[in-house]
Amino acid sequence: TTSHLQSSYTVVDHSYDAVVVGAGGAGLRAAIGLSEHGFNTACITKLFPTRSHTVAAQGGINAALGNMSEDDWRWHMYDTVKGSDWLGDQDSIQYMCREAPKAVIELENYGLPFSRTEDGKIYQRAFGGQSLDFGKGGQAYRCACAADRTGHAMLHTLYGQAMKHNTQFFVEYFALDLLMDNEGNCQGVIALNMEDGTLHRFRAKNTILATGGYGRAYFSATSAHTCTGDGNAMVARAGLPLQDLEFVQFHPTGIYGAGCLITEGSRGEGGILRNSEGERFMERYAPTAKDLASRDVVSRSMTMEIREGRGVGPLKDHIYLHLNHLPPKVLKERLPGISETAAIFAGVDVTKEPIPVLPTVHYNMGGIPTNYHGEVVDIKGDNPDTVIPGLMAAGEAACASVHGANRLGANSLLDIVVFGRACANRVAEISKPGDKQKPLEKGAGEKTIAWLDKLRNANGSLPTSKIRLNTQRIMQNNAAVFRTQETLEEGIEHCRVHH
Ligand code: FUM
Repeated sequence: TTSHLQSSYTVVDHSYDAVVVGAGGAGLRAAIGLSEHGFNTACITKLFPTRSHTVAAQGGINAALGNMSEDDWRWHMYDTVKGSDWLGDQDSIQYMCREAPKAVIELENYGLPFSRTEDGKIYQRAFGGQSLDFGKGGQAYRCACAADRTGHAMLHTLYGQAMKHNTQFFVEYFALDLLMDNEGNCQGVIALNMEDGTLHRFRAKNTILATGGYGRAYFSATSAHTCTGDGNAMVARAGLPLQDLEFVQFHPTGIYGAGCLITEGSRGEGGILRNSEGERFMERYAPTAKDLASRDVVSRSMTMEIREGRGVGPLKDHIYLHLNHLPPKVLKERLPGISETAAIFAGVDVTKEPIPVLPTVHYNMGGIPTNYHGEVVDIKGDNPDTVIPGLMAAGEAACASVHGANRLGANSLLDIVVFGRACANRVAEISKPGDKQKPLEKGAGEKTIAWLDKLRNANGSLPTSKIRLNTQRIMQNNAAVFRTQETLEEGIEHCRVHH
């Protein structure tokens, strides 16, 4: 049906059992599960699905498969709790690590082209913060990968699976706001069709936000330019709380200047960080794990080396990652993607020269608070376990919170498939396909349309792009690896002045 909420906007109404916002790994896995359970499902995505940022994930997905040595999901759980700086929610971590082997085998069955060992098992590499026997058994080889293009392989595999089902995709539709009723239930979303400017109200019994992170709040990030925290913003505009937003992960090895990711898998395969004195400085900061200490530890150590004058380059403001001692066969078979990236973006032949790197914004541990079923919880209320009916979230947009203050590398691809699936399973537990739904509130979405109209017609002195750039630079300078009361207050002041 088409109605006119405001004279110049066409509004089209849709009704589904479930609507998924986002078509990265979490959104696609949720959509696949919902369709498998028989729910009439829409997936709204601002990008063509295979352009979602999941495509950029490199290193792999952790699971205690035990293909390289004995392993146990409890050891994975221990590492994840410790890696989170003891701030993760242990029920969620237990769920994720226990489900991990099943999730990886499921991906294998879906057709994900994992790298293989000589005897045909899924190859698993070393990754940061992963140990055996509760930290007592040395480095774990737990990260299953498809060379250094695991996210690419995963996203295309999941999209292929999604095509088998009858999920209805709305591609290049930009979700604008949640549609909440007067009792605090979520009834769906309103979205903008970017091709023709029409507005669409999607009514749904269950709405699953899988909109990714907000890395682009910063000037330099490994995240795609599309990682703008849209779902988080929708939740905040609906008056619901977000959680742990200050926990922003800096990946130790973004290419200096360009910010492109050089996978931690490169250190997993034997790469070494060195300062201007040629010293393998991680031996001092983390004598056991060295270059494979968890990311917050490595990023802080690199920053301290630079601050103390031992950075490399004319400005002594970055660090070298050496891969040139690795056998060319390893570089070719296990790290072909980053070898190419280093050549293009740093002009470096990794077989001969080190890559200039710098800790770079990579991941948001915080986000939309959920329980381990993916249900959004109202942490502001009297009972922080209270669920917001009809609203779920998964992936980087969400905070389950399996990563606490620091995510371990290769726990993100795991998070998206485990919790995307958990959302679908939970919907199947609490509702049935075709369940009756309340009509939308009278005037649902009108406020959003008025807001959109105001933004479109605003004529202030600063264009949006300038405001964004100013904010990104302030975040980069004032909310970096080390933050103090002073830098944060100064950042707020700069925001006030520049906006
Ligand atoms: O270093 C990497 O390949 C990144 C992996 C991750 O963030 O999980």
